Amino acid sequence: MQDQHAWSGRFSEPVSELVKKYTASVDFDKRLAEFDIEGSLAHATMLNKAGVLSDDDVAAIRRGMAEVLEDIRSGRFEWSVDLEDVHMNVERRLTDKIGDAGKRLHTGRSRNDQVATDIRLWLRAQIDAIVTLIAELQTSLLDLAEQHADTVMPGFTHLQVAQPVTFGHHMLAYVEMLGRDAERMTDCRKRVNRLPLGAAALAGTTFPIDRHYTAQLLGFDDVCHNSLDAVSDRDFAIEFTAAASLVMVHLSRLSEELILWMSPRVGFIDIADRFCTGSSIMPQKKNPDVPELVRGKSGRVVGHLIALVTLMKAQPLAYNKDNQEDKEPLFDTADTLIDTLRIYADMMRGVTVKPEAMRAAVLQGFATATDLADYLVKKGVPFRDSHEVVALAVRHAESQGVDLADLELETLRQFSPLIDEEVYAVLTPEGSLAQRDHVGGTAPSQVRAQIARHRARLAG
Ligand code: ARG
Repeated sequence: MQDQHAWSGRFSEPVSELVKKYTASVDFDKRLAEFDIEGSLAHATMLNKAGVLSDDDVAAIRRGMAEVLEDIRSGRFEWSVDLEDVHMNVERRLTDKIGDAGKRLHTGRSRNDQVATDIRLWLRAQIDAIVTLIAELQTSLLDLAEQHADTVMPGFTHLQVAQPVTFGHHMLAYVEMLGRDAERMTDCRKRVNRLPLGAAALAGTTFPIDRHYTAQLLGFDDVCHNSLDAVSDRDFAIEFTAAASLVMVHLSRLSEELILWMSPRVGFIDIADRFCTGSSIMPQKKNPDVPELVRGKSGRVVGHLIALVTLMKAQPLAYNKDNQEDKEPLFDTADTLIDTLRIYADMMRGVTVKPEAMRAAVLQGFATATDLADYLVKKGVPFRDSHEVVALAVRHAESQGVDLADLELETLRQFSPLIDEEVYAVLTPEGSLAQRDHVGGTAPSQVRAQIARHRARLAG
């Protein structure tokens, strides 16, 4: 038996099977069910307060919805594609259980404001979960940064050895990025957390509704103040997906580094076996699959952003069926991001750092050349001149196959007579780090100060 459509009275023939499948959204929007019920209960409570629904009707709706919810949670609920979407499936089952009261629920409401409300409720919960997971990943990066607040590694520009930094400092760069990501999510939440319900199909309703009361029942900060806008715009979803794309881009960059660092050619780190896989043909292989997949999945989330922006761009006001297409990209964005953050927090705890390899790379790259130039500047040499002096010294050291710190004082003095014995303190990686002792610098003391600042922020 086919479930009859709510509007069947207007039509002389049923939609074709293909059209039914093509236009139905229940296969994916059924995951909104709990939020749909939450929204319906608030709507019914408000209608009752407004004198539109009787006490008996609301009591029946509450009782019936509790059963529907139980059916859904236990997997007993039978979703019907004939009923198109989550909203009509839930409403029909409610009516099957409680009769006419179920049919009165949709008074003063449309699926247009209903679905916009459901998505906002759902997205708000996702954002809250994401903000918590970002904090967990930050904590795992902070732990690693703390263990390696003094560990010297080469800092790179153009992927060439540039200046020594600490591994802790490098990890803190990602803590900063993720901090902004959490700020963006929290900011986006403010615009998500407004109530569309009451806009009805597009123009509002003739019933004496109290939208602020519904908003309060659902924990919304405010109502959407224009009914046409409330049912039609999905900018909040676009904004969320943009914020999610940035998190994925940040994690993709970190992934790229982990992959590079784990290459035997670099050998800066190892990643615990539980995050890697082997090769079916090459017995020696251990592949960093998780970071590679994160790098790949960032493309998928950015793709969803493009999908949603494109979905919106040519829609006239107000609601159009196009908007049904917002759900799959949005759901997949949140799912992908949540899984990625979860696995990443765990994976970073499984990273082993190899300080000797990092130090050896620093020593090979003339990483303290800028320190020598700064040293000469402090002795009165103009920076451009000292830059040239050091370039010549580097060229000499390179021809000898040694580091700057390996050159005899006499040799160094051939490049500038201002150089004295104390130069060796700045030519070591540790000396170089210690001198960058200001807010945001890589000196171990500054790295520790930043770790403490982040920990206090996360605890507060
Ligand atoms: N499934 C629809 C969506 O996701 C619900 C709203 C349908 N409204 C309508 N007038 N057909 O957007």
